[in-house]
Amino acid sequence: MKRPINKNGITIHSAADFEGMRKAGKLAAEILDMIGEYVRPGVTTGELDQICHDFMIANNSVPATLGYRGYPKSSCISLNHVVCHGIPGEKIPSATSKNSKRKDDTIIDGDILNIDVTCIVDGWYGDNSRMYVAGKAKPYAKRLIQVTHDALMLGIEQAKPGNTFGDIGAAISEYAHKHNLSVVRDFCGHGIGAVFHSAPNVVHFGRWGKGPVIEEGMFFTIEPMLNLGKYDCEVLADNWTAITVDRKLSAQFEHTIGITENGAEIFTESPKGLFDQVLKS
Ligand code: MF3
Ligand code: CO
Ligand code: CO
Repeated sequence: MKRPINKNGITIHSAADFEGMRKAGKLAAEILDMIGEYVRPGVTTGELDQICHDFMIANNSVPATLGYRGYPKSSCISLNHVVCHGIPGEKIPSATSKNSKRKDDTIIDGDILNIDVTCIVDGWYGDNSRMYVAGKAKPYAKRLIQVTHDALMLGIEQAKPGNTFGDIGAAISEYAHKHNLSVVRDFCGHGIGAVFHSAPNVVHFGRWGKGPVIEEGMFFTIEPMLNLGKYDCEVLADNWTAITVDRKLSAQFEHTIGITENGAEIFTESPKGLFDQVLKS
């Protein structure tokens, strides 16, 4: 199907397209609602991935990441100092020798983790991620998670016609810096819709008023990754797993949104109101 593309290469969607995204986003959020109760010390990331996979299949959707550019799993699970694209089932290298208790991909008490799932429903992509905690998290880890969540929501507030993509990045990074956290630069949000990743790159830093103008009918993700230490990342030999160079903690939240006349519709809003559940416990 032909859809209009604006001068910045960004697709403009119709009212019918919004309907498609509502379904995909809702299922994507339901997966994250469903998986929360399984996150506890003793479970493996491989098991969590399998549960997400089975849920997607049972709900007539396709896991978008499975086989995407060779990615082997139906979710990304990023533990502690993993920034993004952690591969479920793979052992995570320890951040420090203190933390060498982990022998495999088993989650242990105090771990914080991001689960990122994207499902395809009737050809539409719903992409979202949230933070979870296994057992009891350290206060500084909880604070990182809180600020990252709030930074995403502040970014979404800027997502409306007439504002620019720079406004989104500026809102997120100003808030992060105010709280002495750094903003990852190597990974960004993206256009989405009938494809997984498209224009524009939605960067989570930037300057007020810069970048392409936001227009009604755009669909994209905002998915800031904030670090306790420096923003620098490195990618492991598996070519996917991104970790912080200083091995300090990283957190991320992601929503898929659509631009309406006055603001943003969050397609991946939690049906059970659990998006920020980790912050209420
Ligand atoms: N869901 C991720 C995103 O937010 C993309 C993961 S691609 C994968 O864009 F191949 F790593 F799974
Ligand atoms: Co995304
Ligand atoms: Co994602």
